[in-house]
Amino acid sequence: MNRHIVALGISSVLALAATASNAALDDAKGQALLKKGTCSGCHNMDNKIVGPSFKDVAAKHKGEAGAVAKIEKVIRNGSKGAYGPIAMPGTPKSKLSDAEAHDLAQWLLSK
Ligand code: HEC
Repeated sequence: MNRHIVALGISSVLALAATASNAALDDAKGQALLKKGTCSGCHNMDNKIVGPSFKDVAAKHKGEAGAVAKIEKVIRNGSKGAYGPIAMPGTPKSKLSDAEAHDLAQWLLSK
């Protein structure tokens, strides 16, 4: 069999597997979690408000190993000193579960 066709077959199986186990949120679900977590008073996608824009956050962490886990921790525990003098408060589990924080971190970093 033609090697090229075999390679294509394998990569589409891998792509499907990646989609199934690692599905990013769609934008409506991502925005709903931002609202649920009350992030929107301090952040939006394109402009700095109190905190950095999520576009800037995604650009800062582009290609960084472990970035999703790092941002999950920021969501849970807050952050200080990474962008400026204002600290971000943590987010209790009553607002966002661990799974929601994970999905949200993954979605934000995809922006
Ligand atoms: C009271 C305002 C406020 C709220 C509410 C808030 N943030 Fe932040 N956020 C900030 C500030 C200020 C920073 C910058 C902190 C720093 O300099 O370390 C920040 C930083 C971040 C970062 C960048 C972290 C990094 O290391 O690159 C992310 C991602 C983030 N916030 C996500 C969220 C999400 C998601 C929520 C909602 C669950 C949220 N924030 C709620 C103010 C806020």
